[in-house]
Amino acid sequence: MKPQTPPKTYRVKSFGCQMNVYDGERMGELLAEKGITPAQEGEEADLVVLNTCHIREKAAEKVYSDIGRLKKPDGSKPMIAVAGCVAQAEGEEIMERAPSVSMVVGPQAYHRLPDMLDKAVKGERATDTDMPAIAKFDSLPKRKRRSPTAFLTVQEGCDKFCTYCVVPYTRGAEISRPYNDLVEEAYKLVEAGAREVTLLGQNVNAWAGEDKRGAKAGLGELIHRLAEVDGLERIRYTTSHPNDMDEALIEAHGTCDKLMPYLHLPVQSGNDRVLKAMNRAHTAESYLRLLERFRAVRPDIALSGDFIVGFPGESEAEFEDTLSLIDEVHYSQAFSFKYSPRPGTPAATMAGQIPEEVMKDRLARLQARLDRDQVAFNEACVGKRCQVLVERKGKRPGQWLGKSPWLTSVWFEANAQIGDMVEVELVEAGPNSIAGRLIEPALA
Ligand code: 5AD
Ligand code: SF4
Repeated sequence: MKPQTPPKTYRVKSFGCQMNVYDGERMGELLAEKGITPAQEGEEADLVVLNTCHIREKAAEKVYSDIGRLKKPDGSKPMIAVAGCVAQAEGEEIMERAPSVSMVVGPQAYHRLPDMLDKAVKGERATDTDMPAIAKFDSLPKRKRRSPTAFLTVQEGCDKFCTYCVVPYTRGAEISRPYNDLVEEAYKLVEAGAREVTLLGQNVNAWAGEDKRGAKAGLGELIHRLAEVDGLERIRYTTSHPNDMDEALIEAHGTCDKLMPYLHLPVQSGNDRVLKAMNRAHTAESYLRLLERFRAVRPDIALSGDFIVGFPGESEAEFEDTLSLIDEVHYSQAFSFKYSPRPGTPAATMAGQIPEEVMKDRLARLQARLDRDQVAFNEACVGKRCQVLVERKGKRPGQWLGKSPWLTSVWFEANAQIGDMVEVELVEAGPNSIAGRLIEPALA
């Protein structure tokens, strides 16, 4: 590769989960430290970071077509870095197949992006997909992000090895960031304007650490500590695994006002044979009992989940068990997917792969139930009063959008600003949002 002009502007394109969004922000902060600025809307960047996702469907093919499409107005290619889970899984192949890529960097190695960039400028292509045991976080710059909502990665990786999932291979083993580092980062985020922080982890509720007195702490204890941060008004966390729930976290939902009444708890299937084949290590019944414990301490908690239809061998009757589970839970929102074989995972070579049409039909039926419950949830909110954290302008002048405590989008008209916490009455439910009426004028 020829030496390249040092980039002046960058763009990070993040795909997939919220952890990638967080990693993308942090890569941006690293590049900013080197004096590279984010490209403006519509402007072509000198350096493009494709922060990829490998969880479902032809992810790698998409990366190659994105690489092919990237062009500056003069027809030349920007400098390209491929990051994220496809980089981790297929780094060497990317280097071979896509000569225009200068850097391939895995999710545990991106703190070394600045060094890789120096090499790339000299014309040396660089790959780094190491998974060091020590966290990359120590070498990242301090947070400077200005926004009322922020992500904070507390835990990474997964030891669960669900048989369909590529995450344990791309993100590696579970690691928890130290308690004090997280408290410190939360203060920094609040100083920079955050009023709501979402704690992130592939298995966020597996977070384990020691508090400042050296006592063992889990996510519940960490949340109680973060709730002491002045100016931090809302705490959320995602994504959890049913088997890592402990009493302290459930209890926090009943006692910590800043912890929002919302729980994303994937179940994937409502059938015990399928759950076993997925290596989920819980049953439909144990999952339902767990939700009851959350509802007991926080009756208005909004529930969300993930579902996979068409796992290898799933019969029609087994699929219907998932529909029955949905009927019992009444989710406020949920995410559902057709099973997608991931190379290298046990399920990819299991007998009984389900034809595409059957998966399509099951997904449509499942989503119809989920949509029904989402609409019902939104309708049941009408008449309630709640706080809304203003996140952005709406489509019409004077219109604002924010989130309710239950994570539903709420729009309303007011003389407000981004970052205001306002009190609204919810007046009209739509399928994906609720219209609100301002009760109190915005307090700056
Ligand atoms: N096929 C379909 N969906 C998957 N998920 C993870 N792996 C696969 C796969 N191979 C879904 C699960 C998980 C969510 C993040 O993505 O529902 O909870
Ligand atoms: Fe994947 Fe299962 Fe780990 Fe979630 S718990 S990241 S689905 S292996």
